[in-house]
Amino acid sequence: MNNFVFQNPTKLIFGKGTIATLATEIPADKKILMTYGGGSIKANGVYDQVKEALKNHSVTEFAGIEPNPTYETLIKAVEIVKEQKIDFLLAVGGGSVIDGTKFIAAAVVYNGDPWDLLIDQNKITDALPLASVLTLPATGSEMNGNAVISKKATHEKLAFGSIKANPVFSILDPEVTYSLPKRQVANGIVDTFVHVCEQYLTYPSQAMVQDRFAEGILSTLTELGEKVIADNTNYDLMSNFMYSATLALNGFIAMGVPQDWATHSIGHELTAFHGLDHAVTLAIVQPSLWRVMREEKKAKLLQYGERVWNITTGSDDEKVEAAIAKTENFYRSVGIKTKLSEYGIGSESINSIVERFEQRGWKLGENGTITPDKVREILNGCL
Ligand code: NZQ
Ligand code: ZN
Repeated sequence: MNNFVFQNPTKLIFGKGTIATLATEIPADKKILMTYGGGSIKANGVYDQVKEALKNHSVTEFAGIEPNPTYETLIKAVEIVKEQKIDFLLAVGGGSVIDGTKFIAAAVVYNGDPWDLLIDQNKITDALPLASVLTLPATGSEMNGNAVISKKATHEKLAFGSIKANPVFSILDPEVTYSLPKRQVANGIVDTFVHVCEQYLTYPSQAMVQDRFAEGILSTLTELGEKVIADNTNYDLMSNFMYSATLALNGFIAMGVPQDWATHSIGHELTAFHGLDHAVTLAIVQPSLWRVMREEKKAKLLQYGERVWNITTGSDDEKVEAAIAKTENFYRSVGIKTKLSEYGIGSESINSIVERFEQRGWKLGENGTITPDKVREILNGCL
């Protein structure tokens, strides 16, 4: 097991009726900016619950944070926060609204072009306090310091991670997920699954508890995946799904283990160039990446195949291929296709994506061995 330091400052408030606790969780003297997306919170009653809880607070609203939140939209909120001397941000929505709000929180106190924070996260030395009311289990943004922001002008999508951007608290009421469209439920299942894999499916690191913990989340997702697609109004199922998504990316399973994240880095480019949903890009990239990197990942692919999918017969190569195929079938079983061609996309962006990785000089993967040439091979395998 590798050395590690663990700290997660976010308070988690989980369960039915918990949105009402906003009334006491946010100090009464705070000037709040409440941020949200395209209006789903008005249709499902979450907006009314938040406004009721904050009826004695000063609240300004900023609506219209889009999926894959953009710099262009968020910079408008930065101006409002400065003008109105807002001192607390409350994100009400999915990962996009929470990520966007983290960016606002860090940008407001930064002297310079806030896009710098996506180029060099060490520049995040402070941020306004923020909290969230989560409406979509998927990203884990509710209990981490990460944000992924897009720039429309240049078709870029970049991430930062800073403990300064962790929410002070996050409220998770599984009942608010009942209004999710099936597409977003499926996205949430796949994103959560891949988050676990990015921290688990690398090489053995003698981290027995972390492995079992990761396999527990993966098995929970395979058990409830099709059931929540069929019915996302079952409290027990949705609460387990919501808890899984938070645990998948709040640092617990990352302690002392190597991490990959190449599927995410390549996937972000597919969203930037083609507008595909984040989870869709992961379902496309991951199986191809595993095939290209199968030798380096062999020991963990075999362990994963046996413990999550009960694959115990055949040669090692057959078991590895069976584990990858089972994973693809799982994504398909919740309604997400796993090839670019199934979304009408060909090889048109591959050269540009490879060029970007060449320019950035990033060393991708748990061993830093996913070179731009490998990225090309992986993308060719996605067609
Ligand atoms: O905008 P509104 O009207 O709220 O509608 C949203 C949006 O259209 C809708 N929605 C959310 N909750 C709902 C609901 N509709 C009905 N009922 C509800 N309860 O769902 C749509 C998608 O929302 P979005 O926030 O974009 O989805 P998600 O939570 O999957 O977030 C995706 C973003 O998070 C980033 C992704 O790159 C992407 O930009 N990620 C953030 C991470 C992090 N902070 O740690 C890690 C992830 O890997 C990911 O990269
Ligand atoms: Zn993700």
